[in-house]
Amino acid sequence: MDSELSFANASEIKTELLAVLATDIQTAKGADAKPQPTLLTANEAVRNAAAAVLASGEFKACPNETLLLHAPAGLAAKRLLLVGLGKKTKSTVHGVRNAAGTAVRFAKPRGIKELALLLPESAPEPGLPLTSELSARAAVEGAFVGDFDPDTYRSDRKDLSVRSFTLVAPADADQAALRASFAEGVIVGESQNFTRSLVNEPGNKLTPTLLGQRAGQMAEEVGLNGEIFSTDKIHELKMGAFWSVSQGSEEPPALIVLRYEPAGVTDGPILGLVGKGITFDTGGISIKPADNMEKMKYDMAGGAAMIGAMRAIALLKPRVRVVCVVCAAENMPDGKAQKPGDVQTAMSGKTIEIINTDAEGRLVLADGLTYARQLGATHLIDAATLTGAVGVALGMINAGAFSNDDPTFEKFNAALATSCEKFWRLPLGDEYAEMIKSDIGDIKNTGGRYGGAITAAEFLKVFAEDTPWIHLDIAGLAWIDENKPFIAKGPSGVAVRSILEWVRSYE
Ligand code: BES
Ligand code: MN
Ligand code: ZN
Repeated sequence: MDSELSFANASEIKTELLAVLATDIQTAKGADAKPQPTLLTANEAVRNAAAAVLASGEFKACPNETLLLHAPAGLAAKRLLLVGLGKKTKSTVHGVRNAAGTAVRFAKPRGIKELALLLPESAPEPGLPLTSELSARAAVEGAFVGDFDPDTYRSDRKDLSVRSFTLVAPADADQAALRASFAEGVIVGESQNFTRSLVNEPGNKLTPTLLGQRAGQMAEEVGLNGEIFSTDKIHELKMGAFWSVSQGSEEPPALIVLRYEPAGVTDGPILGLVGKGITFDTGGISIKPADNMEKMKYDMAGGAAMIGAMRAIALLKPRVRVVCVVCAAENMPDGKAQKPGDVQTAMSGKTIEIINTDAEGRLVLADGLTYARQLGATHLIDAATLTGAVGVALGMINAGAFSNDDPTFEKFNAALATSCEKFWRLPLGDEYAEMIKSDIGDIKNTGGRYGGAITAAEFLKVFAEDTPWIHLDIAGLAWIDENKPFIAKGPSGVAVRSILEWVRSYE
């Protein structure tokens, strides 16, 4: 999708589809309080073109509600699309992101290849809680996110992608500031989609080796230092926990290391991004039931989020050093596979009793965390589709977050205001750590039925040691089961934006 920021007069834009956002300014409650949808543009011609339909009461400006007008009077555009943002007081930047996605996803199935979206203006609606810079960035992100569809292997696939997306800002806007925000939005939206395209690939099309190749290719394109290792290096580093997962597969593992080293930055923090890259999780010898097992191709979503975040970091160039470690492997049952009861020695020297071979994510991450520390990381963040239990705890609404350090977590929490992603911090503590003590070795890889997301995090905490660390369990949010007006079902790309903003907060 090509994207462009324009400062044209809205009524003069020749386009297939002109989209304009609307909010409901009704504040009264009760039976007589009819919605009062109002367009977020000061352009009189656009307001006039929609006046009759707004007066009709047919369109209420509910979030992502749409209404299409053909041949709008007084406009050069062929069509005018109204997109709702909801109540004025509840209108948010995230609402703008979604509304832009909704406009793109309205266009796609109708074969409309080009659209222009008016940047919402608060001028006609004083008190609207939106700034134009954040809205511009969010709108272009939302447009890219909306343009993505997962049907890449359909032989009768029609490419319904929008060819050109134009964001239209008023001519008297702060053009330099908007251009910068817009450019950021393009990078972030494309990076999130890069992550989604990786997560979407099935296990046979994206083995650990191929994931490594894709990451390496991207690194070259954006100027990151990328090194992709396999079995030999994993043995050399004594990554016994990582290898124990990989040993049951014919597919060799990949240890993906990406480094971002901005010129002139020689001190300050080194941020370590660690991702779970299980390209398919059968469960291993503790094999999973057949129902829904096909979904386990997305068990590399945490690693893909880190790779996408690194792409955005390389292009946005924050002044902080970042190292990314993704541990990619396939978890398979086999004559060579590890067995429940086996004891493995992790890179850190800690011994792990394997209770369940399906708790493999924490094994590969254990060595990933140790390696990131060895590479100099002063702060760690990991992302993983780690447990089904996190979805039981938080539903498919919030992802889980954990940390061993309050100030580090506070920076992450602050980053969520920009990323507009939902993460909810869950507790850690000695009583939980008790649950993963092993009789034969240092720790075991499962902690029993209750608090499964927490005992998994406690396991990782052992390997973060004294380094400030955040763990993101995205199992519940990395895959979307139903289409939404603004995003297709399939891989969500969750965590890319939040990790990126957390990194930028160390600049
Ligand atoms: N990859 C799964 C977790 C998962 C479940 C991700 C559902 C996405 C959707 C992970 O490797 C796993 O199997 N976890 C087990 C842990 C258990 C054996 C302690 C789980 O959650 O059941
Ligand atoms: Mn598993
Ligand atoms: Zn897994």
